[in-house]
Amino acid sequence: MTTLIPTVKELQAYRASLKGSVALVPTMGALHEGHLSLVREARSRADSVIVSNFVNPLQFGPGEDYERYPRTLEDDLALVDDFADAMFAPEVRDMYPYPEPFKVDVGPLGRVLEGEIRPGHFSGVATVVLKLFLLAQPHIAVFGQKDAQQLAIIRRLVHDFNLGIEIVGVPIVREETGLARSSRNSYLTAKGREDALALSVLLSKTVECPTAPELLRLLRNKENSSSVTWDYRLAVNPATFEEIDDAYVGEALVLLAARVEGVRLIDNASVNLVPSGIKETA
Ligand code: PAF
Repeated sequence: MTTLIPTVKELQAYRASLKGSVALVPTMGALHEGHLSLVREARSRADSVIVSNFVNPLQFGPGEDYERYPRTLEDDLALVDDFADAMFAPEVRDMYPYPEPFKVDVGPLGRVLEGEIRPGHFSGVATVVLKLFLLAQPHIAVFGQKDAQQLAIIRRLVHDFNLGIEIVGVPIVREETGLARSSRNSYLTAKGREDALALSVLLSKTVECPTAPELLRLLRNKENSSSVTWDYRLAVNPATFEEIDDAYVGEALVLLAARVEGVRLIDNASVNLVPSGIKETA
């Protein structure tokens, strides 16, 4: 049975009552199978599991979907009932009592890619995650690998502020079609869901590109499509998030972002690139 914790004060009292290890799963609610895989992972690693459920206004830019972001608290509670001990679902004014809250400056890693397209987004994410960490004081925190840049920024947050929290990244959960699970998929029509497969289909083609030049050719070769507007299709060094060049060898992260029916979708996959001329045999 999951206990609903609606205020910061009650979370602090609840946390003080816990013994043993604590895992936190930060979410914005509208939970689906992808979130459940994070909660299950948390359950397998700690004595107590707290899920936070808070649509964080600081990470939405003007004109983004803050107001219409799905809020489904009752369903969310039911979904995690067998796995989470508590769900922290505070009001905005409880998390941010002042109109202009102090924020975390995330530096260059927060200004490229998603951060360039969504200015201030990662500062908002890092600020709320830092607050959640300070309130829930977890030993472990679990995040999805779908938001790869977010995961890298949270690892840096923990490192740079010496928070001593183990950050666990859980692989992307996909629908049978290959579409990565996302709360924003609920905005798509049936046709939109089909068009959105362009992302996972492109990722599946990266296995045919064992070298950096082949991979970069695939990513640059955009076919014209009226239904999918690409924001980026890039391969980066997973440690620095700098774009790779033709000479790159080793693990690369392919990052995709696109708009389908006006809905922003992201997806990614890791690939291991060998030197040009030496192709791995199956
Ligand atoms: O990934 C999300 O759902 C959010 O960015 C997070 C980490 C819960 C912070 O609001």
